[in-house]
Amino acid sequence: MSNQKATAISCSNIAFIKYWGNRDEKLRLPANPSLSMNLAGLETTTTVEFVAGLEADELLIGEKAEAGAALERVSNQLDQIRSKAGITLKARVESQNNFPAGAGLASSASAFAALTVAGAAAAGLSLSEKELSVMARLGSGSASRSVPAGFVEWQVGQTSEESFAFSIAPPNHWPLMDVIAVISKQHKHVGSTAGHALAGTSQLQAARVASAPERLERCREAVLAKNFAQLAEVVEADSNLMHAVMMTSGSPLFYWEPITLAIMKSIRAWRAEGLPVCYTIDAGPNVHCLCPAEDAPEVMRRLHENLDVKEILTAGPGGAARLV
Ligand code: DP6
Repeated sequence: MSNQKATAISCSNIAFIKYWGNRDEKLRLPANPSLSMNLAGLETTTTVEFVAGLEADELLIGEKAEAGAALERVSNQLDQIRSKAGITLKARVESQNNFPAGAGLASSASAFAALTVAGAAAAGLSLSEKELSVMARLGSGSASRSVPAGFVEWQVGQTSEESFAFSIAPPNHWPLMDVIAVISKQHKHVGSTAGHALAGTSQLQAARVASAPERLERCREAVLAKNFAQLAEVVEADSNLMHAVMMTSGSPLFYWEPITLAIMKSIRAWRAEGLPVCYTIDAGPNVHCLCPAEDAPEVMRRLHENLDVKEILTAGPGGAARLV
């Protein structure tokens, strides 16, 4: 094997239409299609090196050696790559996030996209974007969407090979900004993998899933036409529906803090007054405020001055996962 070491960088992404619940848990075949924007600058850099004589996979996140569940999930992903490449060597994996660790921002998307792209290259595989997206999906569903560039759609697919993400518009298509109000740096009490497994226990999930393709169409249309008003309505509706499912699961998941709801209400009031901004929230209390880039300074000012939000991150549309 010629090339045993490779490094890749991948952005995180924010879903406009959410992935919540799987048709097949093990294969991470989603219950519904989703659509997201890569987040430029919120990146994971991962180096994978297959090392002769190494007895077990090793994982460093930041400077810290990881064991247990985190290492096992990475090893499973490496097993996929090894079986495709026909190799048995164990690997040393070093991963670094450039956004505040544990800020409750999705790191599994950028982490598994970077791991997949670096691991496949290090194993000597030459895979298409589609194949990399499929492979990343098996590690973390949302990671499938961090492989292609810009604004990205993940189609459900009938089989594993058909369930991949693709770009619907490049990063420079629309200068939108994600202004992230960082509310909590606590680790989520229930992570998304466990959350997906609970989705089906909510009576609302079937209705959410049945209506998702229609929301996805409206969202895609809004992105392609750069129609912010249409985007705002469908993005908030979709986030609200996912949280309704979460809150009504067999074991209810309440991810919001009081400040989360205060920000949501303010955003709707600001939009009614003419400021183009909308919210979307993942499996945590942080609020992603989407707006045209030119309005980001005003959104940041209001979050800070009116709502006393102390930590704010911003990200525009990001590129594809890439080797460095
Ligand atoms: C709420 O991709 O993190 O952010 O496949 O178990 O790793 P796993 O789940 P993950 O789920 C993301 C859930 C979400 C919505 C979204 O990003 O679409």
